[in-house]
Amino acid sequence: MTTPTRLDIAMPDDWHVHLRHGEMLEKVLPYTAAHFGRAIVMPNLQPPVVRTADAQAYREAILAALPTNQCFQPLMTLYMTETTEAADVKAGFESGLVTAVKLYPAGATTNSAAGVKDLEKIYPVLEVMQAIGMPLLVHGEVVDPAVDIFDREAVFIETKLIPLRKQFPNLKLVFEHLTTKEGVDYVLSCDSHTAASLTPHHLVINRNAMLVGGIKPHYYCLPVAKRESHRLALRAAATSGDRRFFLGTDSAPHPIHAKETACGCAGIFNVANALAITAQVFEQEQALDQFESFVSLNGAAFYGLPVNKERLVLERQSEPQALPANLKLSQAEVQAFDPMMDVYWQVV
Ligand code: NCD
Ligand code: ZN
Repeated sequence: MTTPTRLDIAMPDDWHVHLRHGEMLEKVLPYTAAHFGRAIVMPNLQPPVVRTADAQAYREAILAALPTNQCFQPLMTLYMTETTEAADVKAGFESGLVTAVKLYPAGATTNSAAGVKDLEKIYPVLEVMQAIGMPLLVHGEVVDPAVDIFDREAVFIETKLIPLRKQFPNLKLVFEHLTTKEGVDYVLSCDSHTAASLTPHHLVINRNAMLVGGIKPHYYCLPVAKRESHRLALRAAATSGDRRFFLGTDSAPHPIHAKETACGCAGIFNVANALAITAQVFEQEQALDQFESFVSLNGAAFYGLPVNKERLVLERQSEPQALPANLKLSQAEVQAFDPMMDVYWQVV
């Protein structure tokens, strides 16, 4: 079978992105809007997007920053707190303004301090979400300082997720940015109420990228990249065609000075080359026939949304493509993700 050199697919969606606010929002949004029809917009702003009214204001800011002629649709999420009101969540969902609720264990990642410490406190909200079919998006890591950072996802599954699932068997749940074989196996053991987003970078790097030959802050993100066997499990899941796995870039821009410092921020800005890199991974795995499912079909099916009508074309060039330029802000730059491999694919 000859390898295709052109992929003409339904417009992809990004099921996990950080668009930030202010100047950063204005600068990163055109990248997302150019390659994606819709995106699940993460609510971990400072202060977080907690109530439906906050999501409405944030949505308006996003639409105001959108380049004219772009038909990009932001899908809004709420940031779960221990005092989130079920009635507000339900009203937001039923009005169509809010798509999902994001659960951050308090302290797990950037701007998660207002997240949840005691999962039982949110059971009344989960009860309502289960009843109305509203997805819960989970940052699946424990924060117990006694648990090694490389084990935090696997321990979360055993100690938090499996018990939560027992309480709410029909809750729609997305395990966000999966990074482990345990995570893949967990999702595969579940029924169609559970899905997972996978990032381009976790399909490409393992923890060596961050730690060998000097510490590389631009490969630091959360959940942190794991050892090679996990990366291989993620690639197998992404390219399998299983409908429970779909692309979420987790593009998370931070200014370079906030990453290249003694206590650097977690996050990788990958949106400009996310699709090209993902296509390259699918080519390497001889699974280009599953690429459209992963980037354009599976997520929409899980969220119960129509597939985008617009199309997007990627072409394989004869030479490796240059890295995207860094993003320039008025006072800083954001480093574009370097996948440390040749990428021949390009969105045209
Ligand atoms: C994200 C951010 O910077 O907002 N960082 C990251 O490393 N992925 C937060 C997150 O998704 O955990
Ligand atoms: Zn994220």
